[in-house]
Amino acid sequence: MNKKVYIETYGCQMNVADSETVASIMAGQQYEYCDNITDADIILINTCSVRDHAEQRIWNRLDHIKGLKRKKKHLITGIMGCMAQRIGDKLLEHTAVNFVAGPDAYKKIPLLVEQATEGLKQGDTEFDPEETYHDIIPKRATGNQITGFISITRGCNNFCSYCIVPYTRGRERSRDITDILNEVSDLQKNGFKEICLLGQNVNSYSSGDDGFPELIDRIALFAPEMRIRFTTSHPKDLSDDLLKAMARHRNVCNHIHLPVQSGSNIILKKMNRAYTREWYLSRIEAIRAYLPGCGISTDVFCGFCGETEEDFEQTLSIMQQSAFDSAFMFKYSERPGTHAAKHYADDVPENVKIIRLNRMIALQNKLSLQSNRNDVGKVFEVLAENYSKRSKEHLNGRTETNKTVVFPKENYGPGDIVRVQITEASSATLKGNIIQ
Ligand code: 5AD
Ligand code: SF4
Repeated sequence: MNKKVYIETYGCQMNVADSETVASIMAGQQYEYCDNITDADIILINTCSVRDHAEQRIWNRLDHIKGLKRKKKHLITGIMGCMAQRIGDKLLEHTAVNFVAGPDAYKKIPLLVEQATEGLKQGDTEFDPEETYHDIIPKRATGNQITGFISITRGCNNFCSYCIVPYTRGRERSRDITDILNEVSDLQKNGFKEICLLGQNVNSYSSGDDGFPELIDRIALFAPEMRIRFTTSHPKDLSDDLLKAMARHRNVCNHIHLPVQSGSNIILKKMNRAYTREWYLSRIEAIRAYLPGCGISTDVFCGFCGETEEDFEQTLSIMQQSAFDSAFMFKYSERPGTHAAKHYADDVPENVKIIRLNRMIALQNKLSLQSNRNDVGKVFEVLAENYSKRSKEHLNGRTETNKTVVFPKENYGPGDIVRVQITEASSATLKGNIIQ
């Protein structure tokens, strides 16, 4: 009987895509995929290091797995992802862990599993600046086949001073257009409705003479029946050419995720973000000019080293001026080894960070509510994704602008694109009815 692999994924969408790559690598070696941790012979955990809290969750999870291992002696546990790369040796000291594999070592996981069954405890965290997993078609997770993630770049060269990602995922590299189009074909064959292109900074995609706008053109024409999204855009590289390419194609969704991080020029400089508040706001203006009605979301965090009350007010004001539709909001978490950890003091007290975070959340709730109320009466094309948790008679879906809408299902189901007129709005969701 084939051995069963269970993969658990934490962190960003890039990790979701990587887990699918690993699932494909394991399937190629006759391992069987399972959805339940208790059925597994091999547990793989794909980890995140972006904030300390993400790592703490993994340590807790490992204590649980230690319990499972007591009952099932042959169980093998491998840790992949950013935490494997960052603190592989420390993870190997945990009794639940058999091996660790960094983001460029996934092809070696079958070998690491085999050697672990022979009692070897080891890590592979070599960087391979050439590795793009170009020859692997990810094995998509079971469940709703609606959105398929395709990574178009790996790694990051930006070295924002607070961020661990350039250290855990290595240098930026772009995948060939042909490999990306192969993955698009695979999604088409499997009935997916939406593609989400992934990269730490999709705007710096480069393959031969082609940049990101050209890639968007190619994919939009290649798969005219599919919706296309992408994330994340770095404000410093968001070009007018990209906005024009988005405007050219009906099937490219009117939504941009544009992390602002802070609204203070002093803090942005210290963060090494390579743009100013004024530049960021000019990019927002360009988006609104080229793509009227475009959804704009952001990442933003408070409490970075030396952030004064005045700096923080600047963050609130840029949120207000940008009128974000939604935001992922955090408080600064020092990551050992980063430029900030080495050179700046993490000097904003925890209680101040919490107060500031709550103020950001309160402001964003107001902005989201305003933005959602503006949609009442409008009609959107909505891609239905799943049945509502509260009622099987309702569907959840997303507008092009990336807002969630709940509506009575009538004769439709997940995967259908329907026209919905919005009737009600809260800060988190829209409600509406299908119209013909
Ligand atoms: N502390 C808090 N938030 C962080 N992010 C990245 N690094 C840190 C950190 N050290 C946030 C940024 C980024 C998002 C993915 O996580 O906002 O865009
Ligand atoms: Fe981290 Fe900055 Fe790279 Fe994003 S662009 S992954 S925040 S270093």
